[in-house]
Amino acid sequence: MGDMERISSFVNSFIKDDEGSLEEIYNEAVVRGVPVIRKASRELLKTQLLIKKPKNILEIGTAVGYSSLFMSQYTDEECRITTIELDEQRVATARDNIKLLGKENVIEVIKGDALFVLKELPDASYDFLFVDAAKGQYINYYEDVLRIAKPGAVIISDNILQDGEILESHYTVEKRNRTIHDRMREYLYNITHDDRVESAILSVADGMAVTVKK
Ligand SMILES: C[S@@+](CC[C@H](N)C(=O)[O-])C[C@H]1O[C@@H](n2cnc3c(N)ncnc32)[C@H](O)[C@@H]1O
Repeated sequence: MGDMERISSFVNSFIKDDEGSLEEIYNEAVVRGVPVIRKASRELLKTQLLIKKPKNILEIGTAVGYSSLFMSQYTDEECRITTIELDEQRVATARDNIKLLGKENVIEVIKGDALFVLKELPDASYDFLFVDAAKGQYINYYEDVLRIAKPGAVIISDNILQDGEILESHYTVEKRNRTIHDRMREYLYNITHDDRVESAILSVADGMAVTVKK
């Protein structure tokens, strides 16, 4: 086991498992190979939610609703979560899961390609955004994400380190992954060099960026 794996396993040993139906939703997603937020990432998300106390959350990348349901445990009663998912089957499963946990009035799933759905959302309307969809698209979501974010909004981007591949040079990355690699590097450059925001790039789990809109 390498040092990074040992650190990750040490960190994960402190994380409490979910309980009840949420635990079942998580386990079923893992068994079915549906991507879900890693345990260490969700801990960061949880603490950011408790600090920020958002009223309107936007998530890009619902999958089967696990992360939305997870987030809903750490928000005030009046907080609403809107989440976008492209895959029809996952949208249906997410809606079932949300109903199962009685959160239909808290979480709304929008079916569609986030690239287009984002354009329909009003300016300055969300105070917490979780970006967790196609990694090669973060750069394309960016301007709309900033536009719909309220001043002071927290924007969390997941999986920014691409299992370490982001460290490699363009030419050593497999050809089919080069576009995603280059776009993610450009995204990281943008969020750290854009005067409209302040960002921290963190090596939590598969890498997370915390960006605050000024
Ligand atoms: C990493 S998974 C999301 C996991 C989820 N946030 C969780 O932790 O439970 C990414 C999801 O984004 C969806 N996705 C990919 N591209 C998308 C797009 N352009 N618009 C909307 N959803 C997209 C995928 O179908 C997939 O279900």
